[in-house]
Amino acid sequence: MADSAITQRIKELGARWEPYIIEQRRKFHAHPELGFKEFWTTEEIARELDALGVPYERPTETGIVATIKGTAPGAYREDGVPQRRIALRADIDALPVDEQTGASYASAVEGVMHACGHDCHIAMMLGAVRMLCETRDALEGEVRVLFQPAEEISSGARAFIEAGVLDGVDTIYGAHIWSEVKAGTVSVESGPRMANTDWFRVDIDGVSAHGAMPHKGVDALVVGAELIDALQIIVSRDVPPFEPAVLTIGEFHAGVAKNVMAGTAYLTGTVRTFSPELRVQLRERMERIIRMAAEAFGAEAVLTWTPGNAALHNDPACAARAQKSVAAVLGPQALAHYEGTLSGEDFSEYLHEVPGVFAFIGARNPDVGADYPQHSCYYTVDESVLVGGAMVAAQYAHDYLAGA
Ligand code: NI
Repeated sequence: MADSAITQRIKELGARWEPYIIEQRRKFHAHPELGFKEFWTTEEIARELDALGVPYERPTETGIVATIKGTAPGAYREDGVPQRRIALRADIDALPVDEQTGASYASAVEGVMHACGHDCHIAMMLGAVRMLCETRDALEGEVRVLFQPAEEISSGARAFIEAGVLDGVDTIYGAHIWSEVKAGTVSVESGPRMANTDWFRVDIDGVSAHGAMPHKGVDALVVGAELIDALQIIVSRDVPPFEPAVLTIGEFHAGVAKNVMAGTAYLTGTVRTFSPELRVQLRERMERIIRMAAEAFGAEAVLTWTPGNAALHNDPACAARAQKSVAAVLGPQALAHYEGTLSGEDFSEYLHEVPGVFAFIGARNPDVGADYPQHSCYYTVDESVLVGGAMVAAQYAHDYLAGA
């Protein structure tokens, strides 16, 4: 099938702006900043937007929201309201990870690294902004571009929504560069893509005693070890085998000295699920096991549950449209099949407000060392996929605004 006129133009712009996108990625990679501290990053994005003459606002202290107005006939109604408005979102924060890649453009900030690829998100979005600016004569509405802070601490999307970034927005598109998806392919299936992400802490109260007189106390450390064991049965015995669920205990702290029996202990961890029902069930089951197992040992244990982001579900109509956009700019062979992941994303917050779609841009390529998982100190990407990510975003915005 021959390319449509807009796809043809986006492909030409992709070829022209690929070096710019890679240069931007490396620049942001070298200067990572943690959530809500993206001051330099925000300034740099503003500078790039200024160079393009794209207007923007700063609804929160860090982060930036740009507007691209289409000039196609009928893009705006007589009262100045666009006939449609789409939001494109890129997150911009980094992680407290000490980079070990040895790359020439490695992090210049000790202990902070773009280990989740949000540097790529900024670069792909700046590329998409260029493509959209240069095709605005064919853009049949308005594009609002969200450079969102603080995704890694699950706070940025909520802060942006509270600041009104979705006001007047009909739909939203987001993407994550992804190490579990092959470079050159993109996954935009409908339905659950990322998990309910909840956090917990268990505080155990026993009775401290002399290490040689264990019968005089209640050993909180032994109770903790029993709880770690007991909680394993939830996923293995209580969850239906075809339902994804993870219960990970990440920390266990107890004890003060080798001859003192621990009077207190605590565990922390995370629970991941797709279904809202299972999310509630797992919490209830944990509460019961923790309370009763501790009681059996004569101790007390309390579960503190901190809900994180809800699961991310792609809207079926948006996913179907996005698959067409991917096939248009990258070819039908670029459509990946990926089962989704139990990691979390605060993009789900937007999807509670408006329908939308979240794409995984494949970046795994062992030939260039890009096979470490996100958040690894060795994490890197196949940079040749970045231009494709930018083209998909630009094509999708055009397709949505054209009513495709
Ligand atoms: Ni991420």
